[in-house]
Amino acid sequence: MTEQSIHVPILTAEIMDLLGVRAGQVIVDGTFGGGGHAAAFLARVGPAGRLIGVDRDPQAISRGREKFGDRIDLECASYADLPSILRERSLAGVDSILLDLGLSSDQLADHERGFSYLADGPLDLRFNPTEGRPASWYLQHLDEKALADLIYHFGEERYSRVIARRICERRRAAPIATAAELCELVSRCVPRSRNHSIHPATRTFQALRIAANDELENLRQALEQLPDCLLPGGRLAIISFHSLEDRIVKHAFRNDPRLRVLTKKPVVPSDEEIARNPRSRSAKLRIAERVSEDDRGVGRHARRERN
Ligand SMILES: C[S@@+](CC[C@H](N)C(=O)[O-])C[C@H]1O[C@@H](n2cnc3c(N)ncnc32)[C@H](O)[C@@H]1O
Repeated sequence: MTEQSIHVPILTAEIMDLLGVRAGQVIVDGTFGGGGHAAAFLARVGPAGRLIGVDRDPQAISRGREKFGDRIDLECASYADLPSILRERSLAGVDSILLDLGLSSDQLADHERGFSYLADGPLDLRFNPTEGRPASWYLQHLDEKALADLIYHFGEERYSRVIARRICERRRAAPIATAAELCELVSRCVPRSRNHSIHPATRTFQALRIAANDELENLRQALEQLPDCLLPGGRLAIISFHSLEDRIVKHAFRNDPRLRVLTKKPVVPSDEEIARNPRSRSAKLRIAERVSEDDRGVGRHARRERN
């Protein structure tokens, strides 16, 4: 028997309201995780509606199947594969899509996967351990400059060079095998933030996780494709947890003629939600709506008139 999810969903009421989820709709939860948002979608769409849940993590999918049975159509895949997932189901489009980026508390708690700094299991960091390369491969095989660039670009870590140098010194003796070892090494290179708001290893782990899962490329691909998976008037909601992701979402929404942005500023959790669920503190929710071809025509016409 799979264990219950411990993940607490974020901004659930806001998402349901801003997406305007109602009975009979067809919804995609592109990052199913522990199924928290999915349960809320299911309650809103009711028996006449339909929910498709997608996650790259096979454990999340099997836990979801056990909990929800055939009430949710679950598939182990990337949200970037949504066009083919909908095609296989003969769906031309859906009413709403949610992407809640990053990792779940279930993944963080699993010490065999390396997401937690304290884990003494292998430093893997993949959402799907059968795809791509584990984080430990990058630590072992990239040269010092490539490692420093990776930590700088994907972690926005100003101490990337010194961290990369120490990693290369250390691996000459023995490979860095566990999250706990990497955490200890990084903690010696990075001064603690003044108010201790983030752990010194946060940015390095973020960088390795982004690389091991090709996260930013998946997000870019999805932003290119998902607007075409929405029915006219359909809505796309994305929760991001760091500035790299949020920047990509903000610019893609703003520059996509297929979309109208509904959140001028990102929606963030209330103080009460942050107190209840500290993991929510860096969440930013942006929502956009698919415009119909007619509206796009009107927009183009109006622009031409103005010029
Ligand atoms: C923050 S959790 C989602 C939690 C979920 N909303 C809930 O309420 O339980 C993020 C999930 O996204 C999954 N994920 C990350 N990248 C993905 C991708 N490209 N395609 C599908 N799932 C992905 C992770 O495996 C993880 O389970």
